[in-house]
Amino acid sequence: MAATSSTLLLFFFLLQTLTLGSGTVAVYKKTYIFRINHLMKPSIFPTHEHWYTSPSFGVSTLHIYSTVFHGFSASLTAERAAALGNHPAVLAVFQDRLRYVHTTRSPQFLGLRNKQGLWSDSDYGAEVIVGILDTGVWPERRSFSDRNIGPVPSRWRGTCETGENFPGSICNRKLVGARFFSRGHDASADAAGGIGGINETVEFRSPRDADGHGTHTASTAAGRHVFGASLSGYASGIAKGVAPKARVAVYKVCWKGSGCLDSDILAGFDSAVADGVDVISISIGGGDGISAPYYLDPIAVGAFGAVSKGVFVASSAGNDGPTAMSVTNLAPWLTTVGAGTIDRTFPADIVLGDGRRLSGVSLYSGPAIDGQMYPLVYPGKSGGLPASLCMENSLDPKLVKGTIVVCDRGSSPRVAKGLVVKNAGGVGMILANGISNGEGLVGDAHVLPACAVGSDEGDSVKSYITANANPTATLAFRGTIIGVKPAPVVASFSGRGPNGLTPEVLKPDLIAPGVNILAAWTDAVGPTGLDSDHRKTEFNILSGTSMACPHVSGAAALLKSAHPSWSPAAIRSAMMTSSNLVDNTLQPVTDEGTGEPVTPLDIGAGHLNLYKAMDPGLVYDMGYADYVTFLCALEYEPKMIQIITHSPVTCPAKRPQPENLNYPSIMVVFEGAASVNQSKTVVRTVTNVEAAGSGVYKAKVSMVSGKGLAVSVKPGKLVFSPAVNKQSFAVTVTVTAVTAAGDPGSAPAADYGYLTWSDGTHEVRSPIVVSRIQPL
Ligand SMILES: *[C@@H]1O[C@H](CO)[C@@H](O)[C@H](O)[C@H]1NC(C)=O
Ligand SMILES: *[C@@H]1O[C@H](CO)[C@@H](O)[C@H](O)[C@H]1NC(C)=O
Repeated sequence: MAATSSTLLLFFFLLQTLTLGSGTVAVYKKTYIFRINHLMKPSIFPTHEHWYTSPSFGVSTLHIYSTVFHGFSASLTAERAAALGNHPAVLAVFQDRLRYVHTTRSPQFLGLRNKQGLWSDSDYGAEVIVGILDTGVWPERRSFSDRNIGPVPSRWRGTCETGENFPGSICNRKLVGARFFSRGHDASADAAGGIGGINETVEFRSPRDADGHGTHTASTAAGRHVFGASLSGYASGIAKGVAPKARVAVYKVCWKGSGCLDSDILAGFDSAVADGVDVISISIGGGDGISAPYYLDPIAVGAFGAVSKGVFVASSAGNDGPTAMSVTNLAPWLTTVGAGTIDRTFPADIVLGDGRRLSGVSLYSGPAIDGQMYPLVYPGKSGGLPASLCMENSLDPKLVKGTIVVCDRGSSPRVAKGLVVKNAGGVGMILANGISNGEGLVGDAHVLPACAVGSDEGDSVKSYITANANPTATLAFRGTIIGVKPAPVVASFSGRGPNGLTPEVLKPDLIAPGVNILAAWTDAVGPTGLDSDHRKTEFNILSGTSMACPHVSGAAALLKSAHPSWSPAAIRSAMMTSSNLVDNTLQPVTDEGTGEPVTPLDIGAGHLNLYKAMDPGLVYDMGYADYVTFLCALEYEPKMIQIITHSPVTCPAKRPQPENLNYPSIMVVFEGAASVNQSKTVVRTVTNVEAAGSGVYKAKVSMVSGKGLAVSVKPGKLVFSPAVNKQSFAVTVTVTAVTAAGDPGSAPAADYGYLTWSDGTHEVRSPIVVSRIQPL
């Protein structure tokens, strides 16, 4: 007996040693996502879940995916994952990766890349459910009140998940569902050297929002009217979402401080579609600025499943502008939203000792300091890069105490710089843009008196400091000003085209308000999001393409409500072809950084105009089959296509052209050197969505820049009748002249213009961009 147990003990001991001894690689577990060919399920298993959890795969699953695609995630060693990849039913295996939310305040997006109203009080939307994949929700906010809202739509199949500080009973007729997805994070954190992991001291294991981002985006898309809303007096007025009567369902897939894992994002998509949402809003993107092929991108894969089931998906274009090709979320079934400014600002002045006033922006709300002048210091003058950026532990309190400190933007969150200055004894901060930020300013609720200024003003302050033995300054805050002109302008940070993955598809699709946006906030952190900021605010003002995306999601909810039969592509087309290209001075929209007019690579089709989108006349419609043809055009292997489509596909023998996807914008890409008579033709089909069903539309092409190019449309007239609601046409771009200075369509300035179909009432406008790729 004794011998037996000691033998057993020894056996276990040996086994453990062997396991540990088999190499460090083997004990590292990571989370993997398995895409399964669900058609291969043996009939002995009643459901896919039974099959995935059977000895056939022999894994303990984290998430099971069955709606937007088929498969599961599991925490495994690399060896085990590779071995399982040879299972005949496994289409592909991918390691989990991290994504981040798209606010400009997110340090991940600042990184080291420094170089680099209109909405009516529509009654629509009450039957529409908007799913928000984000950091959760603070459900007690007035923005989510269900006062005077009818019963939850009966088709709703979602749930309100109970968790830490979040009773399942807290949902209501407005906030109809809330779930959280953490298994990918937990498994990753358990793994040695793992990524992710939930910080229990700051997070709630529930749909409750510890970060604020999710509460902000949800209330932007569909928050109720809240009277007397403001952030400490700034932007005061009525806060309301774009679709104030739409229902909100929250899917918490991102966790404070640790980002969002692919496996959890996919689970969020899967649940949202199964629950019955009509619109998905996802202000999340790749953390490394590089876009993976569509089949490796969980947002592209999840969104394909959603769009195939008629769910509209809006995503953010990313905040890595104004660099060319910085736009993310590139899949043509996603509606990709860039950010513009609104006509509201929060001006503040720097008053220098020599009497000069320089203007900037601030959301500071404490006591005024402008009765007194303070010494002015620029730590970068003597302290090098970390001090110029006011990085943590870089400031000498002896130098900074009692002064106003000039800090350069970049490398750390803007509000964190304010905290560094405050902790070093500073009285105030001037936050100076670098060249790449141009004159683009965003307001922040800094923890001390602070003023953000453009690079020109920053340089003026620095040269004043250099030229004077005892430089002094003060800051004067001027509150909120509305009616700012021009507006909108494209925000400096907004992700720019061209599309780095498929140049034949123009991205971003359009822009929407994304600078200094007031919306609901969490009580878990103060408005700066810093640990030490214990202020509580019902609302906060944030900037980013994250804030622009839910404007389009809310607009989609209203369009879906007005036109229940419209596909996601039809809804996007209506928004794009009716968008605005002029600002509130009736001049072409300009770039915040340069003041120059923008091109479609900056603004997409234009700025969202919801009123006009309600009645677009014609739409460029698309569905599952069009996207499959597009994937065939990319020459992805059938197995890779099946990862996205779930079903096996057969591509046509003759390779289709990606530019012939029936997109509401036209991108013509020439390859090689220009030569006379070089030409390219793209084909499009428009659908008449007017109730009357008849109409005659005429084409007009106006090229803004396009020397040496001729653009023709055939036929130039389209006749619709109740019997014929679809018509096709071809657009041909021909090189007519080649100059020594620059071939038509060459970088840096792609040529562009517009094709407009008009019946005298509707103007259905598409951008045409002509670019040229030189072979390497
Ligand atoms: C969790 O968050 C707290 C507060 O921000 C921080 O001090 C701590 O280091 C974090 N823990 C981990 C493991 O990141
Ligand atoms: C271009 O096409 C026109 C009309 O077909 C022709 O007359 C001309 O010679 C062509 N030019 C070149 C350089 O091929």
